[in-house]
Amino acid sequence: MRIAVILPAAGSSRRFGQGLRSKLDEDMGGKPVLQRTVEAFTKHDKVSSIIVAGPADDESLAEFRLRHGDRLALLGASLVKGGVTHRYETVRNALEHAKDCTHVAVHDAARPCVSQELLDRLFDAAEQHDAVIPVLPVPDTIKRVRDTGERLGKADAIASILGVDESQLPPLREVVETVDRAGLFLVQTPQVFSLDTIRAAYAQADLTSTDDASLVERLGRRVVAVEGDPRNIKITWPSDADLARAMMGWKSPEGRASHKKF
Ligand code: CTP
Ligand code: MG
Repeated sequence: MRIAVILPAAGSSRRFGQGLRSKLDEDMGGKPVLQRTVEAFTKHDKVSSIIVAGPADDESLAEFRLRHGDRLALLGASLVKGGVTHRYETVRNALEHAKDCTHVAVHDAARPCVSQELLDRLFDAAEQHDAVIPVLPVPDTIKRVRDTGERLGKADAIASILGVDESQLPPLREVVETVDRAGLFLVQTPQVFSLDTIRAAYAQADLTSTDDASLVERLGRRVVAVEGDPRNIKITWPSDADLARAMMGWKSPEGRASHKKF
């Protein structure tokens, strides 16, 4: 088994901070998120190559290379161009660089806490099955909620004199129904595929999807779900970066001596 790992890293981190700062640069105990993610895979002996797919436009890719190029080269990872808008465009571009492998694992660059135990579980299952993904049962009650078009709270008279705009108030949402969560699971990455399977999945005309496995499902092929890891969070909002540092014992830049900041 020779696994090529694709790390989509071409996103714009909008939810992390209006896209002004990439979450992949966030400091995790002296190393950026992207480096932590790459290192998790360099440790595994079934991994034969690591492909990081960075921004699509030349200028942003050049900046990305300045920030991460040296570290990636040291770790033996290659850097290729991702897609402009959608993650699936990024993966499709990166797939063209997956060579000399029997399998491809696609993992969000924004999940730096992925453990060796989870990789073992997925890679072992991938020896037997063509498509394997990590999942977790949904712990909370799930409800369908709709927007009423109204606002929560009313701008009072004084506020309206001061010019508080009602459209700035949060939306008023209401519950439509409670959804039965039996059989519902949250899906993580890495998602692991035999090379033929992922190539067939990405050769389809319609690639609209939010994860790679859904393209395999669209082919009508079986996707096997193994136990994920609650620590394997995706850094989406700023609070996720704090959570990742707390779970992994990675200090924040404020908590370190100044010569150890980057
Ligand atoms: N990604 C990508 N190409 C895109 C969009 C996303 O490679 N066109 C990557 C991100 O860099 C990230 C992973 O896919 O590693 C998961 O995406 P997400 O968490 O949504 O990251 P962003 O798209 O950067 O964040 P946001 O949606 O908040 O802008
Ligand atoms: Mg996104």
